Amino acid sequence: MVVSQEVGVQIGVLGTGMVGRGLATKLAEAGHAVCLGSRTANNEAATKWAAGIQRATHGTFADAAAFGELVINATPGAASIAALTQAGVDHLAGKVLLDVANALDFSRGYPRLFVCNDDSLGEQIQRAFPAAKVVKALNTLNAELMLNPGGLGTTDHALFVAGDDPAAKAKVKELLRSFGWTQIHDVGGIGGARGMEMMVIAWLGVMNAVGSAMFNWKVVTKA
Ligand SMILES: NC(=O)c1ccc[n+]([C@@H]2O[C@H](COP(=O)([O-])OP(=O)(O)OC[C@H]3O[C@@H](n4cnc5c(N)ncnc54)[C@H](OP(=O)(O)O)[C@@H]3O)[C@@H](O)[C@H]2O)c1
Repeated sequence: MVVSQEVGVQIGVLGTGMVGRGLATKLAEAGHAVCLGSRTANNEAATKWAAGIQRATHGTFADAAAFGELVINATPGAASIAALTQAGVDHLAGKVLLDVANALDFSRGYPRLFVCNDDSLGEQIQRAFPAAKVVKALNTLNAELMLNPGGLGTTDHALFVAGDDPAAKAKVKELLRSFGWTQIHDVGGIGGARGMEMMVIAWLGVMNAVGSAMFNWKVVTKA
């Protein structure tokens, strides 16, 4: 599967929110066939989305996961295991599972993570679906920018990937490069998701400080 060059790669996107629909649109426009998944077969947002886009279909989480050679988890972190369970363990087995979700919990009136430090959502997903090849990416920045890194006037800013399977990470990196990403930092196995997910708390603080969600991290090393 050469995701950036081969038109017709089938991708299942789980999640009909801003992130899922944004990724699904970008991928369909790039020539991939995309199935957008929801809890229900006739989700209004998914139906509307698929009606306006070529190579687009929609269905349940299970339909989308069965369709995808590569599957994307774009559901709220607290619901991700449930959504992926609905998608079906067999439909995820052996596939690259790109996890963009964050472990955010606003139930106490301030942003916190429901898992952090010595575990992460990415690892929870990998443990729950051991035959899937989970790759964490794209959770460290705004939904609009993830699709259009040039939106900041430069692509010299950072993305991170973590995952245990090198070939799966290579496929995800290739997909990200096809979006225009040039600074992709591989932070190791799926345990690297801990740091990536904890960045979201700092991200929210920076967003408040700069008054915009259109910013990103940059890694500067000594020349
Ligand atoms: N917003 C950003 O800029 C941004 C950036 C990076 C990462 N993220 C992360 O990306 C993920 C998606 O964000 P979003 O704002 O697009 O998501 P969202 O709108 O909150 O999620 C909607 C999707 O989650 C499903 N869902 C909700 N509750 C569920 C439950 N209890 N069980 C199963 N499925 C459930 C919905 O199913 P139905 O289709 O059936 O309604 C829908 O498909 C989140 O984890 C977020 O933290 C967001």
